[in-house]
Amino acid sequence: MKKKTILTLTILTTLLASCTNDSEADLVDVPNENTVTYTNYVKNVIDSNCLFCHGATPSNGAPMSLTTYSLVKDAVLNRGLLDRISRPQGSSGMMPNGGTRLPQTTIDAITKWQTDGLLE
Ligand code: HEC
Repeated sequence: MKKKTILTLTILTTLLASCTNDSEADLVDVPNENTVTYTNYVKNVIDSNCLFCHGATPSNGAPMSLTTYSLVKDAVLNRGLLDRISRPQGSSGMMPNGGTRLPQTTIDAITKWQTDGLLE
């Protein structure tokens, strides 16, 4: 009986340990139920996927910086940020420009940020 318990525990531990993140995008926690805010979610995504071009001094032809809450909020309201990240992989104007489309869960979470009121 005891042996069986230990075996069960070992299997459980192995299963849990195998639930790791294998892609960088997955490392960002997607807040499902919780309110999405700039600070708890969006900043992290923008910092790792957009600042390469949309940095404090925009580069590679990017027209604006996305380094602060108000800049990112402005891009959602006036520059079609959600449309750009939602375009199909490889289509013209998709962001990140010339890169890989963000995971759908990330796009959904940023869409939720807008529905939640673009909170800081
Ligand atoms: C490799 C460089 C590069 C990366 C990375 C990049 N962009 Fe861009 N972005 C550009 C360039 C160049 C333009 C201007 C050309 C265009 O409008 O398609 C642009 C334009 C935009 C625009 C439209 C601005 C306007 O006023 O019309 C938005 C919104 C945008 N980017 C958001 C993002 C977001 C969000 C990310 C990250 C998910 C991102 N970009 C990543 C280069 C980049």
